[in-house]
Amino acid sequence: MDRILLLPGDGIGPEVVAEARRVLEAAAAQSGRSLAFEERPIGGASIEACGEPITSEVLERARASRAVLLGAVGGPSWDHLPPDRRPEKGLLRLRKDLGLYANLRPASVFPALLGASTLRPEVLEGVDLLVVRELTGGIYFGEPRGTALVDGRREARNTMVYDEVEIARIARVAFESARGRRRHVTHVHKANVLEVSQLFVTVVDEVARGYPDVELVHQLVDSCAMLLVRDPRRFDVILTSNLFGDILSDEAAMVTGSLGMLPSASLGEGGIGLYEPVHGSAPDIAGKDVANPLATILSVAMMFEHSLDAPEAAVAVRGAVDAVLADGHRTEDLLLPGETTETIGCRAMGDLVLERLGRAR
Ligand code: IPM
Ligand code: MG
Repeated sequence: MDRILLLPGDGIGPEVVAEARRVLEAAAAQSGRSLAFEERPIGGASIEACGEPITSEVLERARASRAVLLGAVGGPSWDHLPPDRRPEKGLLRLRKDLGLYANLRPASVFPALLGASTLRPEVLEGVDLLVVRELTGGIYFGEPRGTALVDGRREARNTMVYDEVEIARIARVAFESARGRRRHVTHVHKANVLEVSQLFVTVVDEVARGYPDVELVHQLVDSCAMLLVRDPRRFDVILTSNLFGDILSDEAAMVTGSLGMLPSASLGEGGIGLYEPVHGSAPDIAGKDVANPLATILSVAMMFEHSLDAPEAAVAVRGAVDAVLADGHRTEDLLLPGETTETIGCRAMGDLVLERLGRAR
């Protein structure tokens, strides 16, 4: 019996997690696995219920789980709060507390969605890349940080800091991942300006010596952002720090057609995995049953692969998603501006994936 902790969070989080849970249960049953679910608040929902973005009880439940499935956090009601009390802090604390330093964000083009991107189909065909983002260090967590009044002026400060151990372990994840793919790593940095990036280049080169079968390229982050839209096919594994990975993974998502399609897995040394869509809480469409649940459903596929040792279930879930898209079903986010194809809602998309999985609702 594997324990799964559900953290639906805010905005569209509860809607997409509800659909992903149904798919998770059905695919687990098909492959003979039994799961036990618990649900807790995180983010704004936790601020409202418990006065803080995540409680120690929830962190404890996460540590006692095999895997955590998270929706999204944040929304306008909490935008006025200082960084330390915001919904996002709950997610950051969870990642840090579980030691989830390796964030895997695969972006590949679904053939049926070639027309859904704002980029030309011939640029996109065959795109299949994996962003390996460092998740528990860098400017997100560095000290000192904060705001102060200096000589009567408001000043704010953040610190980008990495040590060689943090760099080497995320580099190893990238090289190991590349071995299961096309054996190519692009390390993305800003070493022409930042000492942190210079250390990254040095340490990544050292780690690369242990992987002579994997090709390594160092790429400046600004030119990488450009190349991602110009020629995304050139990328296999993108290895990068926390902040650059945050930015580039949203860009990579649009290459695949919609932010509503990109799943993620966050892994560390403790053996617990956190699975979440890359998109945010989309408060403007929350509660309207129009959100795209596929990024969360595809995160469930990653959970089967990385936490539940059920690769066949991962294949089944991805196959079901492929089939539903191939049949022409679309949520609103998958249409181009001006396109008028009929769309379906979040729940209906979940129903169709379930149907394709071969299970009655
Ligand atoms: C992401 C999100 C988070 C991040 C936010 C919600 C804190 O943008 O997972 O990409 O910046 O890591
Ligand atoms: Mg982000």
